[in-house]
Amino acid sequence: MKHLEDKITQASNLESLEKIRVELFGKKGALAAEFAKLKDIPGPEKKAFAEGLNKSKAALQAVFDKQYEILKAKEIEAMLKSEEIDVSLYGNVAQKGALHPVMETMDKIIDYFVAMNFAVESGPMVEDDFHNFEALNLPKYHPARDMQDTFYFNDGGLLRTHTSPVQIRTMLQSKPPIRMIAPGSVFRRDYDLTHTPMFHQVEGLVVDEEGKVSFANLKSILTDFLHHMFGDVEVRFRPSFFPFTEPSAEVDISCIFCKGDGCRVCSHTGWLEVLGCGIVDPNVFKSVGYEGVSGYAFGLGVERFAMLIHQIPDLRSLFEGDIRLLEQFR
Ligand code: PHE
Repeated sequence: MKHLEDKITQASNLESLEKIRVELFGKKGALAAEFAKLKDIPGPEKKAFAEGLNKSKAALQAVFDKQYEILKAKEIEAMLKSEEIDVSLYGNVAQKGALHPVMETMDKIIDYFVAMNFAVESGPMVEDDFHNFEALNLPKYHPARDMQDTFYFNDGGLLRTHTSPVQIRTMLQSKPPIRMIAPGSVFRRDYDLTHTPMFHQVEGLVVDEEGKVSFANLKSILTDFLHHMFGDVEVRFRPSFFPFTEPSAEVDISCIFCKGDGCRVCSHTGWLEVLGCGIVDPNVFKSVGYEGVSGYAFGLGVERFAMLIHQIPDLRSLFEGDIRLLEQFR
């Protein structure tokens, strides 16, 4: 008896305990073998033998049940331990990124015009002479076509110098009325404090029946747009020249740094130039086969807006990919 009890209490896990259970209590187990002896025991001793056996069986069962409880508890404890989660531990926290200031500014510009019901159009960066110049009333010997300003390919193709060709493509593909902006990268042979060979523009175009689109409409929407971008600034329209618009204007805002008093950023004029615009030249409509329409157009450089909004002195720093600069815009 004692050695059977020891066998049970020495089981170190549920698996070996189960083996022992079969050995002892199973059909072919040790107890069954003892009970089998009953039939050979003579009558008078049978009862005492059977009583003894039943007692032993009950005792063993009690020892077994106790050991089962102990091992089961152990197992649960081990499982809990292995599945334990330390909620106070720091995980592998992903680094928080941010939009590049140029893209963030671009989004803010696009948001305004989308809210004003403008469609967002795009086109190829590798353009041809017709879409980038010819159709925009840029005569053959216009200085903007100069090798100094434009990146040309050997086959006569070029990198677009503005997103105006998207306006030409949109007009060729659809009928008026048109209300669109064309955001995207453009390329010019320039590199200094305020110019990089690649930069971003958003240009806009509105075309409708003759007489439905006026300079007053243009002035009103651009003034509202500039308030959206720069807050409470003064806006002025100054006569200017663009081949694709007539009349044309450049738009200034009162200097956001000195509030118009004059400082280095505004070259002591009190004004910052931020936009070009005008009424679409009839020659542009002619080149896309439009008749009896009127329209206005405008264009701006996104980097210039970003530089002013974030007071970035050197435009080139935006494209160096220096993480220390970018981290400031998180
Ligand atoms: N396309 C001009 C530029 O790139 C901007 C502009 C667009 C000016 C539309 C007037 C009207 O400089």
